Amino acid sequence: MNRIVVKERDGDVKISRHIYGHFSEHLGRCIYGGYWVGNDPEAAASIPNTRGIRNDVTAALRRIKIPNLRWPGGCFADEYHWRDGIGPREERPRMVNTHWGGVTEDNSFGTHEFLDLCEQLGCEPYICGNVGSGTVQELSQWVEYCNFDGVSPMADLRRKNGRSEPWNVRYWGIGNENWGCGGNMTAEFYADNFRRYAVYARNYGKSSLYKIACGPNSADYHWTKVLMEKAYVKNSGGMLQGLSLHYYTIPGEWTKKGSAVEFDEKKWFETMEKAYVMDELVHKHGAIMDEYDPGKEAGLVVDEWGTWFDVEKGTNPGFLYQQNTLRDALVAGIHFNIFNNYAERIRMANIAQTINVLQSVILTEGTKMICTPTYHVFDMYKVHHDAVKLPVSVDSETVNGIPSVSSSASMDKDGKIHISLTNIDTEREQPVKIELHGYILSPSIQVRGKIVTAEHIQDHNTFAREDNVALKEFTGISLSGQILNAVLPAKSVVTLELA
Ligand code: AHR
Repeated sequence: MNRIVVKERDGDVKISRHIYGHFSEHLGRCIYGGYWVGNDPEAAASIPNTRGIRNDVTAALRRIKIPNLRWPGGCFADEYHWRDGIGPREERPRMVNTHWGGVTEDNSFGTHEFLDLCEQLGCEPYICGNVGSGTVQELSQWVEYCNFDGVSPMADLRRKNGRSEPWNVRYWGIGNENWGCGGNMTAEFYADNFRRYAVYARNYGKSSLYKIACGPNSADYHWTKVLMEKAYVKNSGGMLQGLSLHYYTIPGEWTKKGSAVEFDEKKWFETMEKAYVMDELVHKHGAIMDEYDPGKEAGLVVDEWGTWFDVEKGTNPGFLYQQNTLRDALVAGIHFNIFNNYAERIRMANIAQTINVLQSVILTEGTKMICTPTYHVFDMYKVHHDAVKLPVSVDSETVNGIPSVSSSASMDKDGKIHISLTNIDTEREQPVKIELHGYILSPSIQVRGKIVTAEHIQDHNTFAREDNVALKEFTGISLSGQILNAVLPAKSVVTLELA
């Protein structure tokens, strides 16, 4: 039997909606063909779009209330020169996307197009600057171009390019993976560079930037220590406000990740075990941050997470296109429960990547678009956006040595309680007894639920069967006195609502 205790709220810790953020890079068919058809007259004529941005995609992302979008990379960010992506499109220089397939990037999707996309989505932009091959001046001018309202070289250039109002972009990444593709730096060298770049990324007007330093590669605790020691300055306003963390769920070795769709139970459990590693990483990096910042002023920003499998057969290996099954839905549920439970420290997270790359929520093929099982988990968990965290303790059965059940809970502004649960067991349903401390469950309470599950672990949506895995009503709940009993079907993600 599994037992979950949902405790009383512990102050006002909110689960930031930004935990449900996204990441979209100039990689494969994420931007081009995913969001943007503005450079392809044939596609633009057949796919309904607004100023080159696909309407079906913006509508789907608005439904899950996408809170922020990180761009332009990823590894691409440290090779990207933003001035190549402004001004008349036909005059923009081309470049080679050396990281991702060696294809020619025509720069038709640049700063104005990205910020138009964010406005159409109703989300906050998160721009990642170029530290690896750029300059302090280049990043400083990008901030001025986006955010300065007065008369200045960059603000005037922005106006000349058709935008009078500044966008007031708040979130800025100072480089990406600078320990690897972003310059192969040591922690010490990067920390010094971060300080330089951060000084000249100025606040204009009322905007106060949230500067996110490149953080560790999974369990590189030395990196976190150095960054906190050298780049976090308490109440500085000018230095590190956020520290990123990148961790991908990769079952097996890099060369033996396996297919996204054709996998067995062994791979399923290997994947789940790897997904749970996020808990340990957040815990340990958080403990280091606590040493320097016990008041949790700085945020941990998990700005790349998700599954990474082999590319689909017949696709460009540099495009990282993978399908998305019920297995990905469980990985998403496990991650969201971890992020919600560490909401004191985690201020943002970004799944890699929104469309047609790695653990995508949307796949496109020409005029068609489908939502993946991961999309439906984002949809289910949107009830936690900006809700007050309710701490949970979970006493779970295990399957193959891994906890079967994970959970997180929150209370929204209307007083509704939402409890999310995952069951990774492929064979057995899991009965869960849920106690709520500090709340009286009267018989008139309304309890409802939503579920994502499927018959087979490999089930997924295709362009021919787009609703094979979808969000459905969950009915396996009953109240007995002050105990809520839920029976979680095998391989499912569930969210309960108590109103
Ligand atoms: O998401 C794909 C790549 O993974 C990103 O470009 C990089 O930051 C990470 O290594």
